[in-house]
Amino acid sequence: MDPLIEAAIAARLNAHAPYSHFLVGAALETADGRVYPGVNVESASYGLTMCAERTAVFSAVAQGATTFIRIAVATDVPNPAPPCGACRQIMWDLCGDIEVIITNLHGFHRTFRLSQLYPDPFDDKSMA
Ligand code: THU
Repeated sequence: MDPLIEAAIAARLNAHAPYSHFLVGAALETADGRVYPGVNVESASYGLTMCAERTAVFSAVAQGATTFIRIAVATDVPNPAPPCGACRQIMWDLCGDIEVIITNLHGFHRTFRLSQLYPDPFDDKSMA
């Protein structure tokens, strides 16, 4: 199995999802091969919940990473769940047109470019 998919599946076990019980793991890879995990972290004030993809992106940025090539996102459903709209925007902002792999625990996966999932995005060019 692709090591990035394995990393996302492993990260998922650290998800904090006592309200939805929907555990999500992510693994974000830099151009120089470093991998940053992320999980969803839920709050009793539900709206404060942070998704796995954004946790991975923010953690990577906090640790100095700047150039990304792929993210894998793991969920335990037959049809692997795609990133939500907020995560698509943040990935576009900070990662650009990376490869997005959505997978389930059995390694059934689908691969996209972020621009396929998030066409016509809002970014700095939108304000020119
Ligand atoms: N979730 C993610 O981690 N990533 C997404 O892109 C969509 C949703 C989480 C948030 C919440 O903890 C749970 O999945 C159910 O919405």
